[in-house]
Amino acid sequence: MAKKRSRKAKKVDSKYISYLKDPLTKKIYKGVIEEYTTIAQIYDDRWKQYLLSTENAILEQLKLKGKEIIVDAGCGTGNLLAAIQQQLKHKGKIIGFDITPAMLDLAEAKLTSKSKFNKTLQLELAHCENFSAKNNSVDIVICSNVFHSLPHPEKALCEFHRVLKKNGRLLLLDLCTDYPTTRLLDWWLRLFHKAHHRAYSNSEVDNMLKKNKFSIVSFKTWKATPTMGVMLFEARKK
Ligand SMILES: C[S@@+](CC[C@H](N)C(=O)[O-])C[C@H]1O[C@@H](n2cnc3c(N)ncnc32)[C@H](O)[C@@H]1O
Repeated sequence: MAKKRSRKAKKVDSKYISYLKDPLTKKIYKGVIEEYTTIAQIYDDRWKQYLLSTENAILEQLKLKGKEIIVDAGCGTGNLLAAIQQQLKHKGKIIGFDITPAMLDLAEAKLTSKSKFNKTLQLELAHCENFSAKNNSVDIVICSNVFHSLPHPEKALCEFHRVLKKNGRLLLLDLCTDYPTTRLLDWWLRLFHKAHHRAYSNSEVDNMLKKNKFSIVSFKTWKATPTMGVMLFEARKK
């Protein structure tokens, strides 16, 4: 009887397709999951100004043409997915995945209250090195404010490359250490933020993208807040 109960207790995430099966992944991402579980409820308010700036930049860059299949890697509380659906009226399939169930729960609550969205939306518990999309099946991968959490960013780029169609687009946005204030912030976050691995400079990301068979289409950088400089790359799968 007791055994049955403990087996049931482990099924908390079963409403999402889960790609966090191996124990090593769970161990590596333990800090990330703990951190975002703690701040999930306050995430949207806490980073409001910053998120408005980064979301607008991505929405502007997207320039959707029709029914593109979009993946939002590390979709968090689903703000961008909601904007793609509601502001851009996108009709194509959207896959949002995140490694933290608490963030996905908020995304689900935000997105599934809009009844029609259910048909085109898929939410997954997954990580950037392993998610469900088939090879060469996705038109656009968005990775926004996640890259600094990844211990193996190039493995994630490899996975994005795998799922993208030829000439498929990657929109990669993250903190940019070319700004001195963001460099300082990066060091502070490395010390005190369990989910933070490290932030990168423009040239470091440029090199990683090229090394992983992407060609750079455009690049811009700006200050989303007085301390937080960001960069947005658009790259295409070669
Ligand atoms: C700063 S939030 C960004 C959320 C959203 N993309 C945005 O721009 O608001 C980082 C999110 O990435 C998720 N995350 C971190 N590492 C991840 C990984 N390896 N795979 C998938 N999600 C990850 C966290 O759980 C968190 O929800």
